[in-house]
Amino acid sequence: MKDFEDNTKKLLGDNTAVIGVSGGVDSTMLAAILAPALGAQMKAFFIDTGGMRKDEVERVREIAKKAGINLEVVDKYKNKFIEMVSQSINAEEKRAHFRQVYGEVFKEVAQSYGATYMIQGTLATDLIESGSAGKSAMIKTHHNVDLDLGLKEITPLADYFKFEVREMARNFGLEELLVGRQPFPGPGLYLRVVGVPVTEELLEIVREADYQVAQILKKHNLYDKISQTIVALLGVNTVGVKGDGRVYGYSLVVRTVETVDFMTVKGFYLDPVVCEEITSTLVKNSKIVRVLYDWTSKPPATTEFE
Ligand code: XMP
Repeated sequence: MKDFEDNTKKLLGDNTAVIGVSGGVDSTMLAAILAPALGAQMKAFFIDTGGMRKDEVERVREIAKKAGINLEVVDKYKNKFIEMVSQSINAEEKRAHFRQVYGEVFKEVAQSYGATYMIQGTLATDLIESGSAGKSAMIKTHHNVDLDLGLKEITPLADYFKFEVREMARNFGLEELLVGRQPFPGPGLYLRVVGVPVTEELLEIVREADYQVAQILKKHNLYDKISQTIVALLGVNTVGVKGDGRVYGYSLVVRTVETVDFMTVKGFYLDPVVCEEITSTLVKNSKIVRVLYDWTSKPPATTEFE
């Protein structure tokens, strides 16, 4: 662990660095490790993009406090994210728009601190999947990789894989980063509204559905056995019956997978009893007429729907 602190301190010199903390294991653990060593030289902030899970912002605040990270929550740009991402229903274009706003906000915050460096929790896996490492084909755009922000980058975790970082967090006593919480993509719920433009209302539907599914899986002691659960809204209208009338509404799809490194995944098949409970809970939303389940492996599917 000492290596991280010494190397980063050496690279930083007398300058100020920002670190964007997402509440995920990578950036949060890194900020926690570096906070005592760098003190006021490192400014940690969290961008609330409007695509966060239910209660996520509060959770991140609490973890940061516990980990000794002095965290600024930047939440005044949520509308800008929705406005830009909703301009396309194409997965890569949505990511590109998200990334653009993320970059602008990041830059603005860094400038407000007078920072010239940024510390990133980027992992080896992220670099490989974004096509930044070696010759691997571009699979998807990461919102925080290779952003040209005019800041010098320090990436202490660039040689590490997810499972190693999880182990570090455990050794560091940051169990709460690992327990009761599955990974979540940077663009968050924006990737979980598929085939129709994202709106605040649709984000709210997937946010609530994601929370409800997690609660049911926790109740059945399944949540921690599943590597990732994706609950997405499919923008295909199908006919359903609600009360006395036929309605034309959206479907939600629930995808539960297991994996070690997310390079490949396989479906985590749920018991029909659990599926029934999830379905009957989710269709209580008046806009939802069907709940589908997806256990396709990666490849050919990806973990997320976009
Ligand atoms: P895929 O869908 O590529 O996802 O099999 C593998 C893992 O990466 C997460 N993911 C993302 N994370 N920005 C992120 O920070 C993204 O754009 C992104 N897309 C996917 C996904 O949730 C899974 O854990």
